[in-house]
Amino acid sequence: MDEHNDTPSIGELVEQRLGRRDAMRGLLGAVAAFSVPASANAQTGGPSSLTFKELAHTLDRNQHVAEGYDVQVLIRWGDPVTAGAPAFDPAKLSAADQEKQFGYNNDYLGLHPVPAGSTAGDRFLLVANHEYINSNLMFAGLGAGRDANLKTSKAQVEIEMAAVGGAVVEIARENGAWKVVPDSKFARRVTAATPMDISGPAAGHDLMKTSADPSGAKVLGMLNNCAGGATPWGTWLTCEENFDVYFGGDATQLLQPMSRRYGVGRAAAYGWPRHVDRFNLGKEPNEPNRFGWVVEIDPYDPAAAPVKRTALGRFKHEGCTYVLAKDGRVVLYSGDDERFEYVYRFVTAKPWNPNDRAANKDLLDDGTLSVARFNADGKVEWLPLVQGQGPLTAENGFASQGDVVIKARLAADLLKPTPMDRPEDIETNPANGRVYVVLTNNGQRKAEQVDRANPRAGNDHGHILEIAPKDGDHAAAEGTWSIFLLAGKPGQDAGARYHRATSDNGWLSCPDNIAFDSKGRIWIVTDGAPSAAGVADGVYGADTTGFGRALTRCFYQAPTGAEVCGPIFTPDDSTLFLAIQHPGEDSGSTYEKPSTRWPDFKDGMPPRPAVVAITKKGGGAIGS
Ligand code: FEO
Ligand code: CA
Ligand code: CA
Repeated sequence: MDEHNDTPSIGELVEQRLGRRDAMRGLLGAVAAFSVPASANAQTGGPSSLTFKELAHTLDRNQHVAEGYDVQVLIRWGDPVTAGAPAFDPAKLSAADQEKQFGYNNDYLGLHPVPAGSTAGDRFLLVANHEYINSNLMFAGLGAGRDANLKTSKAQVEIEMAAVGGAVVEIARENGAWKVVPDSKFARRVTAATPMDISGPAAGHDLMKTSADPSGAKVLGMLNNCAGGATPWGTWLTCEENFDVYFGGDATQLLQPMSRRYGVGRAAAYGWPRHVDRFNLGKEPNEPNRFGWVVEIDPYDPAAAPVKRTALGRFKHEGCTYVLAKDGRVVLYSGDDERFEYVYRFVTAKPWNPNDRAANKDLLDDGTLSVARFNADGKVEWLPLVQGQGPLTAENGFASQGDVVIKARLAADLLKPTPMDRPEDIETNPANGRVYVVLTNNGQRKAEQVDRANPRAGNDHGHILEIAPKDGDHAAAEGTWSIFLLAGKPGQDAGARYHRATSDNGWLSCPDNIAFDSKGRIWIVTDGAPSAAGVADGVYGADTTGFGRALTRCFYQAPTGAEVCGPIFTPDDSTLFLAIQHPGEDSGSTYEKPSTRWPDFKDGMPPRPAVVAITKKGGGAIGS
């Protein structure tokens, strides 16, 4: 723990946030967490249960993993996905080819066993989100800088529209190595043009209607799918995050204040509105209302249309991860990743049916969306966003539940939830049932905006909260919360706080996605490491309980420009898959002169976002 931090001591925090009885329990936990045990880990000399030799912080053109581990590139941008896909040739890109090839900027990764329900652990459908594009690293001649991505031609925009969305790839392990199964019957690409259904309270709403879709219930494509999740019945939830960046043009017809609240109407980041009418706000002012949703896709049925599940609300969803309530209802946590935005939870109206997959088909259309308020006394309250309840009335602009979900940010504002430091991944630790809320950073928080759950002004490094639902029930209306760690460099960045044995290489900045191994240890990946300090984005493992709690240790460092996304373990913990997104996204980096040519390192070959598989040399569980 940093002795020079400007936040209260752990004891003070516990006293302030919990009642007396809970304070005693919490304090005992805190003492255990921040003490060095009598017998330290023999291999590392510290109290962590993780036995790998910690990797040094580094920043160069290549990736690095801890000694004793192998890292294999599984699939890259442009590699074949569906039958008949051509091999990747960066000089001959076309939309028709890209629709059959792995997309750009892989983010969320999910594993769905093949066959469905199998526990063999050596064959899966790997689902991947393709969040966005770096036009100037995909195409020659666009140059560098902010405007480079706006210079694309119509043909290039069509390639970009085919490069985002998602992919389903069948993978199998043979002789210890993972391979993509060619011509799998499950293989699929989903793009910005794939026909999708809109279901739930917003379907058919006037704000969802466009000239191409007077029904307001059919949409082409999904945008900026960042992280995601799964359902107990084996579907993939893929989440639309910064959808606004694809829209531009005359904003005068946009509905206000909603559009401002979502950032719609600001200048486009890409050339799409110049070439495709539906991204031009002057021509289709309702089209952006059809994005910002959680999309459910059945990876086992390539013919099934993806469905936008509007009951889960419209915002800039990072991910959407499930856990079961005590009564079998499905609880889904989702963060809205923008500065001062909120943490949400959706609870289905009915329990899921483990015996009849088809019975769960529309389960996500009916339930209660809530938003979180993190009180200073350590309590978290879930505030329901239900039309007709409290301030969510027609007089306030919410005449239907459709209004509530389409304008979820505005509805939430009225309930006074806690504005957070950019909520990214939210995941439940299967070992202790606690929910971990990753807050990546918020440099814009001012001193007068600080609260207990977002305790730092100018929070450039982010932090992670830990929620314990009341009575262990994720559908409960409340729970308690505490801080798991405050990121940044201990001794340098004000308030940085981990286990006191965290090393010079173990600190991290800008946590984004997390995964838990089967022992309940947290694996944190980052997006925004301080390159000036020679630190790449990476992977950090830590115990969540016991003597090594919050003792983060560096396990992997990405190539320059890349963030690390999509961490997911095989059920036996023997493989950790990672999505390495936007390698080479550095200032001044261009197609012609990229800052790295990872992973191919061939002249003329641009950097390629790719999925990697990390395994232990000789086999066994990662981290052991
Ligand atoms: Fe796409 Fe919230 O990161
Ligand atoms: Ca993210
Ligand atoms: Ca991020």
